[in-house]
Amino acid sequence: MTTAFVAGATGFTGREVVRALVEQGVRAFAHVRPDSPRFSEWQKRFSEMGALADSTAWTEDAMAETLGRLAPDVMFGLLGTTRARAKAERAATGKRVDYETIDHALTALLLKAALRSGHRPRFVYLSAAGTPDGDRPPLSAYGAARWKTEREVKTSGLPFVIARPSFIAGPGREDDRPAERFGVAVADGALRAAGVLGMRRLSERYRSTTNTALAQSLVRLALDPAAAGRVYESEALRRCS
Ligand SMILES: NC(=O)c1ccc[n+]([C@@H]2O[C@H](COP(=O)([O-])OP(=O)(O)OC[C@H]3O[C@@H](n4cnc5c(N)ncnc54)[C@H](OP(=O)(O)O)[C@@H]3O)[C@@H](O)[C@H]2O)c1
Repeated sequence: MTTAFVAGATGFTGREVVRALVEQGVRAFAHVRPDSPRFSEWQKRFSEMGALADSTAWTEDAMAETLGRLAPDVMFGLLGTTRARAKAERAATGKRVDYETIDHALTALLLKAALRSGHRPRFVYLSAAGTPDGDRPPLSAYGAARWKTEREVKTSGLPFVIARPSFIAGPGREDDRPAERFGVAVADGALRAAGVLGMRRLSERYRSTTNTALAQSLVRLALDPAAAGRVYESEALRRCS
């Protein structure tokens, strides 16, 4: 039986990845951060889906031990913060919380732990549309964290899949994200017009997707041996959902 470890399982995309894995008959371990105030709720939700919640601490030693024990065939890195969430978390904990410490550093920790675990899981990394392939990092902190993380995934030595979706929309997000909703509305509206004007490629790349469609694509790619070592842009992800 295939085994998967999902980091970022409590997220809008992560929870649907866990569900899709179970539907495909995969033994799914859904990571919930140990200090989560919603740990019991998530444990119940994942158990009802047919998955197992795991609360390994966010340290390289603890994660390497867990991955060594669970021996996943595939791992998902679906982590990320937002400016608003990072600000709230900084105020509550006094710790440094930003795109570098969450989006980049936690994914980098997962890669190192996987390499130390003695196994060679395929690593599925959820990046973002617009991340460049070249040697120059984007100017934004968000873009730079994505760019740096993608490079580390590509050079990790693990088989990998990188997904670059545009906006992830759909019902059921718990936190209000007005800027993101506005972005979806503008992008989808403008891109519909762009499609009409013949700029089909731009439209395919940047229009929004849903968490459920994206999760289906990620799981399909995770389980397809031919998908390894490739970067999937929005349009390619949509084709395999
Ligand atoms: N949203 C979009 O439109 C969009 C578009 C393209 C790419 N992406 C990227 O895709 C990824 C997933 O997006 P999403 O919308 O599914 O994300 P999401 O719903 O915000 O979920 C983020 C995940 O990261 C975890 N996380 C956040 N802060 C953490 C911290 N301090 N310590 C440990 N874990 C932490 C969350 O855990 P808790 O539940 O415990 O907080 C959650 O599991 C993100 O990296 C995002 O940048 C998003």
